[in-house]
Amino acid sequence: MASHLVVRACPPFRVPVSSGDPLDPASAAATAAAASLLESDARSLLDGPELDRARAMTARTREDFLAGRLAQRRFAAGLLGVPASALTAWYSCPRCGTGTQISHGRPGYLIGGAAAPLLLSLSRAAGWTLLAGIVDPDPALRLGIDVEDPARTDFEGFDAVVLTPAERAHLAALTGTQLLRARARLWARKEAWLKMTGTGLQTAPDTVDVFDDAPDDVLEGDVNGRAGLRDLPPAEAGLPAYLVAAVAVAVYP
Ligand SMILES: CC(C)(COP(=O)(O)OP(=O)(O)OC[C@H]1O[C@@H](n2cnc3c(N)ncnc32)[C@H](O)[C@@H]1OP(=O)(O)O)[C@@H](O)C(=O)NCCC(=O)NCCS
Repeated sequence: MASHLVVRACPPFRVPVSSGDPLDPASAAATAAAASLLESDARSLLDGPELDRARAMTARTREDFLAGRLAQRRFAAGLLGVPASALTAWYSCPRCGTGTQISHGRPGYLIGGAAAPLLLSLSRAAGWTLLAGIVDPDPALRLGIDVEDPARTDFEGFDAVVLTPAERAHLAALTGTQLLRARARLWARKEAWLKMTGTGLQTAPDTVDVFDDAPDDVLEGDVNGRAGLRDLPPAEAGLPAYLVAAVAVAVYP
């Protein structure tokens, strides 16, 4: 068993879209087969509250959600050396509490009714699922991971909602791709940090300063003095180069 950080990037799961050509039955059959495999894997491996949560989602969101939850469960089972079917989802929400009926918040699993000795974190962007795990962690250790697609930060109001005044000042001179990448980098750091603390966006992101002067993708140390928070270069994570990721691993009360 590994007690170090393990990170895995899972490529987008996509049900192939049927060509719509009634003379192309192979295309329609491939679509139906992929969708049905995802649904049957989900029904056989995921827990009731996870399936209930998926039921309320639109088709594409549901696909990403189910594929991510299946990937997370298989990842956790692989790290623990147990079958995926031996795990029961056991989530913690800062508002709703912890339990097998909770299907949102910080991820975790039970094995045979006891907490699995595993820290987990998950993030999705552009169809990709990024997973992080640490087996047999120190009891006070916490983990958070986040991946962002810079294109998703291209909207008015991003800076006002997400950035601290100091961060806004630093980004003021940037435009185009550079600006979007810089926004995504700060956003990924904030979300990795807030998943690590467990509060998520119940802590306003514009109160969490994660700006650092170091150039992109070379920041190996702690971001802005936050011990354990660092950028995760796409090549290290197994992600495509256009995505931006960060990870936080720290002892947190
Ligand atoms: C988690 C969050 C910071 C980032 O989410 P995002 O950018 O939309 O999505 P990501 O793909 O990066 O991350 C989603 C994952 O974060 C994890 N997560 C959610 N809340 C978390 C928390 N409080 N602590 C740690 N991890 C958390 C889950 O694994 C979730 O995966 P899921 O969709 O399979 O449940 C944000 O969505 C959030 O804070 N949500 C919760 C808000 C809240 O507490 N609401 C109260 C509910 S009662």
